This record gives sequence, structure tokens and C-alpha cells, in this order.
Amino acid sequence: MSELKNDRFLRALARQPVDVTPVWMMRQAGRYLPEYRAIREKAGSFLDLCTNPELACEVTLQPLERFPLDAAILFSDILTIPDAMGLGLYFETGEGPKFERPIRSEADVNQLPVPDPEDSLRYVMDAVRVIRRELNGRVPLIGFSGSPWTLATYMVEGGSTKDYARVKGMMYDRPDLMHRLLEKTADSVISYLNAQVAAGAQALQIFDTWGGVLTPRDYQEFSLRYMKRIVEGLTQESEGRKVPVILFTKGGGQWLEDIAATGCDAVGLDWTTDIGEARRRVGDQVALQGNMDPSVLYASPERIRKEVEVILESFGPGEGHVFNLGHGIHQHAEPDHAAVFVEAVHELSAKYHQG
Ligand code: CP3
Repeated sequence: MSELKNDRFLRALARQPVDVTPVWMMRQAGRYLPEYRAIREKAGSFLDLCTNPELACEVTLQPLERFPLDAAILFSDILTIPDAMGLGLYFETGEGPKFERPIRSEADVNQLPVPDPEDSLRYVMDAVRVIRRELNGRVPLIGFSGSPWTLATYMVEGGSTKDYARVKGMMYDRPDLMHRLLEKTADSVISYLNAQVAAGAQALQIFDTWGGVLTPRDYQEFSLRYMKRIVEGLTQESEGRKVPVILFTKGGGQWLEDIAATGCDAVGLDWTTDIGEARRRVGDQVALQGNMDPSVLYASPERIRKEVEVILESFGPGEGHVFNLGHGIHQHAEPDHAAVFVEAVHELSAKYHQG
């Protein structure tokens, strides 16, 4: 394996000194890039891109060709696991992801297999291997998965939802069944992420997109508990070192201490928490990732730079910050504004790393 030419991102996750704050963007490969739309038009569907390792690699590298990003993230989706469990993932234009066979009964839960990642998810592992080869040590590669709770919301609802009627109905009426579903899903996530690391992923992020819709008690019981189990189950090393894990719960700002206590290496923040305050609460335990409101990219370059400065100043001098947006970049963001953002992080952060 080639030496890393830029290890800022891994150093920041380990809270080690860096020259400038590393930066990447959630959803950095995607529809806001004209070159993504072009390849997508040629290839067919989003899933056609995900299941073709060469195309997934090409799309992963697109944002790195444009911007001086400090990490690459595997181009894939969190819903590959339920698809491999047999639920039949498909995308309907304008409606987001859907499952042909959602989980509705006890029998559905009992029948669910824990997929073998080198079998039904082999296309993901192949993509990781191709991307590592093509990155050739430029920057580290992030692998990822959804959290069990977030995956369960899609598995039970059969798609996106506004009110979580079915999944919360199951959680409140049949907590035993919900736990069985989450256990199987967590086991699947653990083997999936360990396989991504074996294939070459150098850091991992768990997207708990819907943890923030739970009550504090239910968040602990139905989401955080399973993420902790995953953190503990990640035994696969990457080139002799433990891979860092970032937990991102959207809307999780009030639970930062609990998230940090799972043993994760970094906590991802959305933009509703002040990063300086978050650092005072948990900064001696974990690194922090975030957290510019992605909508700031709709504003002028001057305003984007100002917001980057405000966040850097709030975090303050010292180590343990990975800059990112507070959630995925919007589909209608201007690529030129994303460039302003990434460049501003490097330029404006140097003065915070002089010790
Ligand atoms: O960050 C990256 O660049 C890596 C790629 C990535 C995608 N999805 C690509 C994608 C990642 C990390 C995801 C995660 C994901 N997928 C989440 C968690 C997101 C978070 O930020 O919390 C969720 C909830 C999903 C499920 C999903 N997949 C949704 C809701 C959608 C959008 C559907 C729509 O039509 O708007 C997708 C599709 C998807 N995943 C696209 C991309 C680039 C768009 C595909 C296209 O139409 O070309």
C-alpha cells in the first residue's frame, strides 16, 4: 500500500498537530457537479453507478479533481445493506429511495439474513479496492454505513417518511421486535464496515441521519446503543492501525457527551450546535467534525469566507477539528462556492495551528 501524501484528516481525527484544518464535504460527489450529472446520464441510474466499481471510483474522485479536499468518501449509499438483505432497493425520480419488500411483520424480521459483505455486497468492496488503487495515497478514503436506527426507518417505512408512523409504531408497540431488527442490522453493519476496512477504507463514518427524531431516552435505547456496539465491533485494522470512527447524529447536539462516551474517535456536528461549545463539552475525549450550514453556500463568496472564519474562531486554536458542512451539500449548490469554502478553510485556519 502506498504512503499517504496527505494525512491531515487522519491526524486531526487523532487530535495530532496539522499545518491547516483538514476539510471534506458530506455528499461531496453528487448532483451539484455537472461532471457527475454527465456520467450519471451516460451510466443510467444512481444504482448503476454504485454497482459498477470503475464508475463509482470515477465519481468518488470527481470532487478531488476540482477542490483541494483532504479526504475522499466512497461513492455508495447507506441503503446497500437492506438491499443485500433482500428488500429490493429502487429509486423513483423525485421521491427518493424505496423498498419493494419493506419490513412489516415479525416473520419479516425473523427471515432477514445478515449479508456476507464479500458476496452480495462485493461490488462495494470492489469499489473500495479500485478507489484505493486510483487514489494512490493522495488522501485517505472514508468508508461508511448508516446507523441501525436510520437503516431501520427506511426498512420499516419502505422509503422516506415525514412522520415515522410505522417505524415509531413498531418501536413503541413492539420494542422487542424493534430490538431484534436493530440487532440484525447492527451485526450486518459491523461485518460490512470491517470488510470495507479490509478492502482499504482508512476511516469510517456512521450516518445517523434520523437519530435526532427520537426522545432522549429512545435515542439511547434504539440508536446510540447500537452505534456503541458497532464501535466496539470494529476490530479490523488498516495497515496496522485502528481505524478512526466518526459518529454523526443529525440533531444530536444535546447528546454530545453520550455520543463521545461510545468510544468513537470523532463526533460529527450539524450546524445547530456551536462548535466551540461542543469542544468545551467533549473536546478532550474526541475530535469534532463540522459544521457549516450547507445553505451558507447559497450566499456570496465573502459571506462564505466570513462563516468559515467564525467557525474556526469558535473552535479556537489547537487540534482535533475536521472541517465539514453540517450535513450533505445541497443539490443546487454552486461548485464555485464549494471551492471558495474549501480554500477558505485551508487559508484561514493556518493561524490556529502554530504551536
Ligand atoms: O458523501 C458522499 O459523497 C458519499 C456518497 C453518499 C450518498 N448517499 C450518495 C447519494 C452517502 C454518504 C450517502 C448517504 C445516505 N444515503 C444517507 C445519509 C445521509 C446523511 O447525510 O445523513 C441517506 C439518508 C441516504 C439514502 C438516500 N440515497 C437518499 C435520501 C437519497 C436522495 C434521493 C433523491 O432523489 O434525492 C439517495 C440517493 C443518493 N445517494 C444520491 C447520491 C449522490 C443522488 C443520486 C442521483 O440521483 O444521482
